Amino acid sequence: MGKYILVPDKLIELSKRTKGKNFREGIRQGLFLMSLILVEQPKIAVEIGSQTGFSTCCMAMAMADNDYADKAGYVYGIEKTIPHTKTAMMNLESFGLAEYAKVINGDSKEVIHSHPELRPIEFMFIDGDHSYKKVYSDIFDNFQFIKNNALVVFHDYNADTKKGIDAALSDLENRGHEFEKIKINILTNGLLIRKIK
Ligand SMILES: C[S@@+](CC[C@H](N)C(=O)[O-])C[C@H]1O[C@@H](n2cnc3c(N)ncnc32)[C@H](O)[C@@H]1O
Repeated sequence: MGKYILVPDKLIELSKRTKGKNFREGIRQGLFLMSLILVEQPKIAVEIGSQTGFSTCCMAMAMADNDYADKAGYVYGIEKTIPHTKTAMMNLESFGLAEYAKVINGDSKEVIHSHPELRPIEFMFIDGDHSYKKVYSDIFDNFQFIKNNALVVFHDYNADTKKGIDAALSDLENRGHEFEKIKINILTNGLLIRKIK
């Protein structure tokens, strides 16, 4: 892809398989998520909205590489639809990543509350339902499970999603929570926050 930055063959193959003609943008997003996992080295990463497992596999690839430094963690993807969950699990298997990630079928709200093994969350990627109400609840209701100093990454910080995220963060601030916030030029206007407390 680039002249100097070599892109892993497996990432190219995964992006072509799951993103079709948008595979180049997939590669950019994949490299970004992989870099965050390599730098942060979370023991538990939770993803809301796995779809067919592209982002789950990207994070799991970086977890596998963290393994060489004895820092391997685990990615829990959450996906509402059964066909997507099955495809995501198949992609994890076929890329040899089942040791580092799995996708749980269900609604983000129920899954995080009913699966204690998903906590404390040390890294979170929120890319599920983009409506105001759902994205509000994905951040507000789960903030208690996120470890201090953890990164939370939002896809599509725009339109209704932005309003929902802003409302949730403002309500959390009013309850005494603190975080740093930075807008990013990837993930279709993404947002990164680091929880302080
Ligand atoms: C934009 S796609 C995710 C793309 C994926 N993160 C990637 O980068 O390849 C959003 C996914 O979230 C799922 N979803 C929507 N609402 C959800 C919920 N409440 N709980 C879990 N998954 C949800 C949808 O079924 C869809 O597959």
